[in-house]
Amino acid sequence: MASPPLPKLFLLFTAMAMAALAQHSSVHLHFYLHDIPSGPNATAVVAASGPKPAPSAGPPSLFNFGDVVVIDDPLTEGPNLSASKLVGRAQGFYVLASQGPADPALLLTTSLVFTEGRHAGSTLVILSRDAVLAPVRELPVVGGSGAFRWARGYVLVKTYALNSTNGNAILEWDVYVHY
Ligand SMILES: *[C@@H]1O[C@H](CO)[C@@H](O)[C@H](O)[C@H]1NC(C)=O
Ligand SMILES: *[C@@H]1O[C@H](CO)[C@@H](O)[C@H](O)[C@H]1NC(C)=O
Ligand SMILES: *[C@@H]1O[C@H](CO)[C@@H](O)[C@H](O)[C@H]1NC(C)=O
Repeated sequence: MASPPLPKLFLLFTAMAMAALAQHSSVHLHFYLHDIPSGPNATAVVAASGPKPAPSAGPPSLFNFGDVVVIDDPLTEGPNLSASKLVGRAQGFYVLASQGPADPALLLTTSLVFTEGRHAGSTLVILSRDAVLAPVRELPVVGGSGAFRWARGYVLVKTYALNSTNGNAILEWDVYVHY
């Protein structure tokens, strides 16, 4: 007895799935993010403040639990902002999301908007806890647009330089994405 023919729909879906798989790629991006909360050219501004802690709580900190900071941070190829090529911007916000000073953590919600090379015009979206004092933080990449449609991945973030007086920070980002 001959076996029944495979349904046409099944064949169609298989062909579509194979075409989708064939288009998948992955990439490693490396750049520096400059978060500048002070000075005339600040790239990070406090948009809402949490309650100020009592003076007895210790020395004043730059940010407090509940603060919301909106960012438009430049991304550059090298660590020197004035000498290095701009490759994109991180546009979004972070919230001071931990109460105690013991393990300070942000909730970082940002798009990375690329302006250079083959990813120009495409974005990646980050939504993550960021335990800022950890030597390496892992942030999930939850999506993307343009060339990065369907993106999934993660970022490893290291603090390259931090001025604890004015809060200016240079962060080294290694982004690994499948898309
Ligand atoms: C701020 O930006 C302006 C315009 O790009 C530039 O001329 C100036 O030097 C910058 N100031 C600082 C302190 O970086
Ligand atoms: C960054 O580059 C500028 C311009 O080339 C230079 O004057 C400055 O010394 C550099 N800064 C550092 C920390 O290397
Ligand atoms: C850190 O910030 C303070 C206050 O703005 C400034 O006086 C100092 O020069 C900065 N340090 C470095 C290494 O840039």
